[in-house]
Amino acid sequence: MPYYSGDLIEEVISQNDVVEVISEYVTLKKSGRNYMGLCPFHREKSPSFCVSMDKQIFKCFGCSEGGNVISFIMKTENLDFWDAVEMLAERANIDTSRYEVNSYYNKMDSTKKDLRETMFKINRDVALFYHDNLVELLKEESNPVKEYIISRKLDIKTINKFGIGYSTGKEPLYDYLKNKGYTHDEIMSADIIIPSKSGRVYDRFFDRIMFPIFDIRDRVVAFGGRAFGPKVQDKTIPKYYNSQENDIYHKGKTLYLMNYAKREKVDNIIIVEGYMDAVALQKFGFTNAVASLGTALTENQARLIKKYTDNVVIGYDADEAGQAAILRGLDILASHGLNVKVLKLDRPDAKDPDEYLNKYGPERLKKCIDNAISLVEFKVSILEKDFNPEILESKVRFLTGVANILAKIDNNIERDLYIDRISKKYGMSPGPILKEVEKGLKNKKEDSIFIDMNALNKKMQLITNVRKRQEQYIVALMLSKKKKIQEEIINNISSYDIEDENVRKLYDFILSLRDKYDINKIDILSKIQDEDMIKEITDIMYIDISGYEERLLQDVLKNKKKEKLFTRRDEIIKRLSEDISKDEGDILKVELNQIVIELSKLK
Ligand code: CTP
Ligand code: MN
Repeated sequence: MPYYSGDLIEEVISQNDVVEVISEYVTLKKSGRNYMGLCPFHREKSPSFCVSMDKQIFKCFGCSEGGNVISFIMKTENLDFWDAVEMLAERANIDTSRYEVNSYYNKMDSTKKDLRETMFKINRDVALFYHDNLVELLKEESNPVKEYIISRKLDIKTINKFGIGYSTGKEPLYDYLKNKGYTHDEIMSADIIIPSKSGRVYDRFFDRIMFPIFDIRDRVVAFGGRAFGPKVQDKTIPKYYNSQENDIYHKGKTLYLMNYAKREKVDNIIIVEGYMDAVALQKFGFTNAVASLGTALTENQARLIKKYTDNVVIGYDADEAGQAAILRGLDILASHGLNVKVLKLDRPDAKDPDEYLNKYGPERLKKCIDNAISLVEFKVSILEKDFNPEILESKVRFLTGVANILAKIDNNIERDLYIDRISKKYGMSPGPILKEVEKGLKNKKEDSIFIDMNALNKKMQLITNVRKRQEQYIVALMLSKKKKIQEEIINNISSYDIEDENVRKLYDFILSLRDKYDINKIDILSKIQDEDMIKEITDIMYIDISGYEERLLQDVLKNKKKEKLFTRRDEIIKRLSEDISKDEGDILKVELNQIVIELSKLK
């Protein structure tokens, strides 16, 4: 992909009306000055997804996703920023070549992208280096690496297919990259080589089997390294060591081997925990296997999967699958409309799919996959663990638990089927279960198509605490296009005064933009790429302060002053309780007195 100047972003935004673009994905209804619809980013029955024609942004008041037309395409199409820009440029027939950058000065704007491209290349070269290392070692008669590879039943075909390698962790990697023409800074920015205290450099991964992690477009974005030998067994080093997150690697957006799984036409995706599980499954022909790499599943991963299939099977370690974090992940998948099933391995002596495959073979595993149970059944089976039909109390607890789970099912027929099945299985009459479920259903909100923006805003106001609101006003005033107000803010409020991290980042960012642009003439949102900041600024853009600017400004300044006085007051009180000289005490008391007077005036 070529490098583009920042002007392309503005052109793309102005040529792609946010309402038009989103209408291609979501059914929108006009409601006052806004358009409302069902949020595509979380499952809901009454619309809280709001698109503003005037502001050219969208915001979901249910799940807080928000942004401009580019962020929308990034999320729905699962694209990087510049890929989304290109897609929208194409949609609007914009000739992107006019925005390609080659002059040195223009290039300054695109350095970040430049660096990303270089990082992709370095990662690929490193992966090849590790891979060649391993292939060479496998040619030898015998060595510990080869023995470990054999013990894990990894054949050369699999090793080649997934680019599996080995890192010695010694200096040659640095020289190898230097010889490939990368600068020292470029090499270091990839975060694989680190400087040692003695001033030399070394490889982050030392004596490990290396799994390159790919993004959806087959680019190497990170690594996982598996250690082996006695040091792992006695736990003096961690079993796995993984790349840190950076500009090209976002853990929560990645699924290991998804780039392979998506190539096949599949009925479902199998999600397992570990590198070895995904690789083993693929090796045995389960080309729909991916790994979440030991972290809880995220919204982003759910969306990624939903693009390829509606069905997932979860194959986590038996003893871990019931953990709260994992269950939350499964609920996230379900809330994106995925049909979630849970794999139960029918042998206690094989804790994960990799072990199972190597002990019992693919046919038997296939049977387990076909018999995978639904998420509801799985949740019930967890409750069942401490269910004792002999004890009344236990029965009641079980019954309420089950009712809670069933009340979450939207489909009536499905719900009734479960009630029937569970009552039979546990020897209970369906009546009481039904009653409990109905209680739960009543508590669920009634459907409504009518949306009252004022009520929503009020709700939002209640959720965000007062202090944060105050801080949001600071940014809202900066966005107000009123020069005098902006100057008052800048002169009186520094970013240190702002406690909320996202609001502070935004404020800093707007101040930094002021050095380059007239902030009242540019689209500030289009300059932001950080997701948290985008969410925050869209929140703020929905706060309507027009007509109230002057009053809010006075409010904000007054509160700031109050806060400073309170802090100083507390400092003094604390100091006075300490062992201090009489002179200091007298001076402090005078100051305290003044503060109290000032505070009473500010009330
Ligand atoms: N993991 C990690 N760091 C660790 C342990 C685990 O990042 N110290 C992640 C890895 O992605 C690993 C996954 O969690 O693949 C599952 O961990 P575990 O079940 O312990 O390992 P296995 O995948 O079974 O790995 P192996 O078969 O190689 O022991
Ligand atoms: Mn394992």
